[in-house]
Amino acid sequence: MIITLQNQKGGVGKTTLSLHLAQYFTGLGGRVLVVDADPQGSARDWLQARVAEAPFSVVGLDRPTVHRDIENLLRGYDVAVIDAPPRVTDIARSAILAADLVIIPVQPSPLDVWAAQDTVRLVNDALVFKETLKSVFVINREIVHTAIGRDVATALGESQVPVLSSHVSQRVAFAESLANGQTVFETKSDVKAIAEIEVLGAELLELFGRSRSEPFRR
Ligand SMILES: Nc1ncnc2c1ncn2[C@@H]1O[C@H](COP(=O)(O)OP(=O)(O)OP(=O)(O)O)[C@@H](O)[C@H]1O
Ligand SMILES: [Mg+2]
Repeated sequence: MIITLQNQKGGVGKTTLSLHLAQYFTGLGGRVLVVDADPQGSARDWLQARVAEAPFSVVGLDRPTVHRDIENLLRGYDVAVIDAPPRVTDIARSAILAADLVIIPVQPSPLDVWAAQDTVRLVNDALVFKETLKSVFVINREIVHTAIGRDVATALGESQVPVLSSHVSQRVAFAESLANGQTVFETKSDVKAIAEIEVLGAELLELFGRSRSEPFRR
């Protein structure tokens, strides 16, 4: 499973969701590699901030060769989660080409919906070279008890890219856990945050046709 988190807009949650999904798949017994394809090196910073041993591997690869290197990198792993950089760069294109599935995190605001169309275009460009490439939107930082997430899902639904039914809410626990080099699974400070990642992860496993009980059976 090669999953790239991409949105050319900055700060939408690519790194937050990359690390949390990596932790989720690790918890199910998957051997997970996070590829930090962002020259900002946020996933590597997270690793540096850790005190305990990392639950999964994180490797920096911020060159436009991700799509060529991924097969070798993936040896010995079940899942690669590629944290792509913001902006339209050769690295972003390479990270998209490397993927089986591109997840486009979108915040619930019209500005983000409009900006997401640029990312959709990038994915469509890649489809010329890789017909099997799939892409989905996921709504991140939904404000609890508001309808805007639903409105945005409707607006996004007008493009050809499907919107995942699981949404991730705005929760301090996501930001706080990462600041300490952890995830919400480790800080256990917000059970709802954990549950949201579990639902998102399960939806992704389903997309890949993997059983939820033993997704990484060897
Ligand atoms: N669901 C959430 N709840 C609360 N805070 C969040 C959530 N998702 C992301 N954040 C916060 O928003 C900020 C941006 O998130 P993140 O770094 O994951 O985005 P990004 O898309 O990787 O950014 P960049 O484009 O700079 O790489 C961070 O401070 C992060 O802690
Ligand atoms: Mg990032």
